[in-house]
Amino acid sequence: MARMNAAVVTSFAEPPHYRQFGVPRPRSADEELVDVLAVGLHPRVRTGAAGAHYTSTGTLPMIPGIDAVGQRPDGRRVYFVAADDVIGTMADKALAATRRSIVLPDEADAAKVAAAMNPAMSSWVALRRRVRLEPGQSVLVLGATGNAGAMAVQVAKLLGAGRVVGAGRDPGRLRALASAGADDVVQLTGDSEATGRALAAAAAESDIVVDYLWGTPAQQAITVLLTARSDRSRALNWIQIGAVAGPTMELPSVALRSANVRLQGSGQGAVPAEDYLAELPALIDEINAGTIAVKANTMPLADVEQAWNRPEVPGERTVLMP
Ligand SMILES: NC(=O)c1ccc[n+]([C@@H]2O[C@H](COP(=O)([O-])OP(=O)(O)OC[C@H]3O[C@@H](n4cnc5c(N)ncnc54)[C@H](OP(=O)(O)O)[C@@H]3O)[C@@H](O)[C@H]2O)c1
Repeated sequence: MARMNAAVVTSFAEPPHYRQFGVPRPRSADEELVDVLAVGLHPRVRTGAAGAHYTSTGTLPMIPGIDAVGQRPDGRRVYFVAADDVIGTMADKALAATRRSIVLPDEADAAKVAAAMNPAMSSWVALRRRVRLEPGQSVLVLGATGNAGAMAVQVAKLLGAGRVVGAGRDPGRLRALASAGADDVVQLTGDSEATGRALAAAAAESDIVVDYLWGTPAQQAITVLLTARSDRSRALNWIQIGAVAGPTMELPSVALRSANVRLQGSGQGAVPAEDYLAELPALIDEINAGTIAVKANTMPLADVEQAWNRPEVPGERTVLMP
């Protein structure tokens, strides 16, 4: 069997190790073997490599990586989403299915695309396919200081939002959001009363909440927004995308009866794969044009253990290059 270099997880308690692994074989006519050029180390990749994602089957060894930029045998470069959770993309070669791939324009920067697609598509797809953003609407991004949240602020503006408020913890990143297009920012602090007042003042009239936090901050925010808005019968669409602050929250039933709140999630599973694919070309154009800011921190795939153990730099996404 042909061999390749790969990041290989042999224990869910350890980072992946750089070692030899068998080259995967296409399983259908729709799949082909591509040379991997750049792979993003997204939070979802870490969760999968720790065996902690809800789709995890516990199978080891595994190769992490949920997406990548690769080069087809015909020379064309594609961005693709892996079809398999066990044999992922952090390797010299990976399987790319045509129905999960999009050909990149010549000018596309592979590292930037690998860094930005996962975080950027979360809000792009949510605001186009889950709850279509109407021009002029108000959007609150909960968790706007992460990669995906900061991009959500820019994406909401690009898609026509009239007002975008970013809420998060890190004061430096909040300041940066203002220059990235946020109309207002709210710092989420340990003082829940002060945070609640600030959220009510800045975002009570939101039409859509793009939520990367869940857990206690989302629980507090939903009550604050519903109580403070001037017309509770006006729809508040809450789109659940990430859960960095906790996997569960308590929602009082009265919140659903006393206001027009519509709660739904956005992610693979909630949105069909063909809808994702249809949105990707426009998103790639925005990333290429620089309208969605992205900072790729590239490292050789051979340094995967070091990449895993190093704290992420806020606002940057580690990209591994085979
Ligand atoms: N459903 C989808 O399609 C989809 C796609 C992409 C990502 N996601 C999910 O979205 C989430 C964010 O992804 P990302 O790429 O933006 O990750 P990231 O760049 O690592 O950012 C995570 C941010 O979360 C903030 N945070 C962590 N714990 C917090 C807490 N208790 N309260 C408030 N803020 C907290 C941190 O900001 P501070 O510095 O301010 O603390 C951090 O910058 C992840 O859960 C990811 O899996 C979902």
